[in-house]
Amino acid sequence: MNVQTVAWAPSGALRIIDQTLLPSEERYVDLETVEAVIEAIRSLRVRGAPAIGVAAAMGLVAALRPSFREPLAAFLARAEAAAERIAAARPTAVNLGWAMDRMRRVARATAGTGAAVFEALLQEAQAIWREDAAMCRAMGEHGQVLMKGGRRQGSGVNVLTHCNTGALATGGIGTALAIVYTAAERGVDVYVYADETRPLFQGSRLTAWELAKAGIPYSVQPDSAAASLIAQGGVDIVVVGADRIAKNGDTANKVGTYPLALVARRHAIPFYVVAPSSTFDLACPSGAEIPIEQRAALEVTHPLGTQAAPEGSEVFNPAFDVTPAELVSGWVTEKGILRPPFAF
Ligand code: MRU
Repeated sequence: MNVQTVAWAPSGALRIIDQTLLPSEERYVDLETVEAVIEAIRSLRVRGAPAIGVAAAMGLVAALRPSFREPLAAFLARAEAAAERIAAARPTAVNLGWAMDRMRRVARATAGTGAAVFEALLQEAQAIWREDAAMCRAMGEHGQVLMKGGRRQGSGVNVLTHCNTGALATGGIGTALAIVYTAAERGVDVYVYADETRPLFQGSRLTAWELAKAGIPYSVQPDSAAASLIAQGGVDIVVVGADRIAKNGDTANKVGTYPLALVARRHAIPFYVVAPSSTFDLACPSGAEIPIEQRAALEVTHPLGTQAAPEGSEVFNPAFDVTPAELVSGWVTEKGILRPPFAF
């Protein structure tokens, strides 16, 4: 995948591709303050649970860079406060809090000078990024046993997915889409049905952009068309990512995932969640305890900037829904395909 979701700019800033502008414009922006990192996460310039975690860690380093000559106590206090603020930028993707906790632990455990702490934080951010890329590869490999086609005579494997779970959503090749990319690399004839994913169109804007770049054949469909496609026998497997997986397996992911799981069960289609261990929150007993982000009304009343509902309409706009564990066939992780109880 030739997509640079996060990178270091020559100045030491965090460089991201601005995902709000895709697919019409490929523009990179450099972030070097806590405020800029928080804004980029909140506005979904960088998004997708693993990518948010990686960007937060790198963004924290970029924001702390000008202060590393401070005395140890002052630098530590600055790092703690910045990590806490960045962790609160979005509530559902547990990778964000997970990455900031990792960074805070490293800061506290490093003795010496502000410069020594800064260097340790830089190394930790690099490790978070590197490990995420490796986990993506491993998920792609483990998922290959699921790439079985045949529902539709004469076709390869027809995969339905929701939101964007590819390179743009991670520090590597993706989660659910990593399975697709790995299959394609191995010569499997794979076809992707991408839900457009209202209201922010991560499926049609981002997944389709990635798949087109990778040369993988796909269709974009309205979210509401997924059920009839599945009912007609057009889909072999549904694969999705996750933003937080509770101890019992209840899975929060982009709103619209739960109805897909229901339809898949009704038609006896496998439904798999693909996520790294950093997306599991074993301190969260069930889906009922997962915080669900509510987003601005404007995203629904004015999709892509065009008015689509009367002024003053009340809006229900949860960014995520929770799929009960009983509807999930399995969880593809970097450690293999798991079922609860999970142990990492
Ligand atoms: O609001 P977003 O675009 O950050 O939501 C992203 C999703 O729901 C993804 O499916 C999830 O983060 C998994 S990404 C590998």
